[in-house]
Amino acid sequence: MAEAMRIGQWGHNTATEAFEDELATFLDVPDVVAVSSCTAALHIGLLLAGVGPGNEVIVPSQTFCATVQAILMTGAQPRFIDINANTLAVDSAAVQAAITPNTGAVIPVLYGGRAIDLTEIKSELDRRGIAVVEDAAHAFGSRLGDKRVGATGMLTCFSFGPIKNLTCGEGGALIPRNPAEADTARALRLLGVTQSQATRIRTTSYHVDSAGWRYHLSAVHAAIGRVQLAGFASIETTRQRLWRAYARELADLERVALIDLDIEHTVPFNCVVRVLADRDKVFETLRNRGIGVGVHYPPNHTQPAFRQWHRPLPVTETTARQIVSLPFHPAMTEHDITHVVSELRTALTDSRSNSIPSSRR
Ligand SMILES: Cc1ncc(COP(=O)(O)O)c(C=O)c1O
Repeated sequence: MAEAMRIGQWGHNTATEAFEDELATFLDVPDVVAVSSCTAALHIGLLLAGVGPGNEVIVPSQTFCATVQAILMTGAQPRFIDINANTLAVDSAAVQAAITPNTGAVIPVLYGGRAIDLTEIKSELDRRGIAVVEDAAHAFGSRLGDKRVGATGMLTCFSFGPIKNLTCGEGGALIPRNPAEADTARALRLLGVTQSQATRIRTTSYHVDSAGWRYHLSAVHAAIGRVQLAGFASIETTRQRLWRAYARELADLERVALIDLDIEHTVPFNCVVRVLADRDKVFETLRNRGIGVGVHYPPNHTQPAFRQWHRPLPVTETTARQIVSLPFHPAMTEHDITHVVSELRTALTDSRSNSIPSSRR
């Protein structure tokens, strides 16, 4: 941060480029394009995939609305698909069943940080020219086999928002598939200007070769990300330890199912359970007792703005009425987790007694 301040150019500058190089080393990829958000990365990723008006993009309804808005920004339309109830993620069969002649891309959402393996249908996707643009907003640091997410040959989009595995305050990154995509992505994130900042400040002009957006990552945000990345080994082990602590504490709780994150390979973003009781009542009791629970996410196919793309998605609709995100942050202790689970136990008992008709109480 002090370095970014000292250089004095707080927008895109050498601190941003240093952050990109450090991310590339960490992920073991040739190139990283830092941007202002994962939404921006998804928008650029879809454009690199050639997605535009007339295309459909296959996407789970169970995601943050940003994923869907990025599709609409290209002029394409979302084709919502269902998820697996245990992982809240899509699988190859669901993706394959949704392919049509108009499919331009697939966005697998790496829910909770868990990687998604689409190798089973890779040759079909390649044959049809359908790109995979991973929404890895939750998944920085996670692995597919022995590779980090981002290093498996797809267009991958990370979020470095305030509560993400690695944060810049706000920010994101796109992993391109080749050097040409990296160059195009760098122009698209800087209003279509092709010269780097370093070149631009030494010349009397610059070239605007295409449409573009103001999507660059500022040096101030990059400076925060560089500090986070230097300490990521500790973030990774702490998040895994806390998630495992939740798994132990929740093991004997009836009417609660923990979402399976494949913890050996995952840097968990959250800890989500399905409550097989009156979820809204349990949620309200926990909130009233000061436990910061949330719901990630209300499904997109039922949102007013996306209703024209509604289709029946039975698993999404059922799990959406069950899910609760428990408090999850690296600053928590195992004692905090014991407390949360004890409050959840009480809330479940209350929900049961409250469900008895008042005449019989
Ligand atoms: C699944 C998912 N996709 C995309 C985004 C958008 O990320 P950003 O806020 O960096 O644009 C988020 C943010 O929370 C997210 O959770």
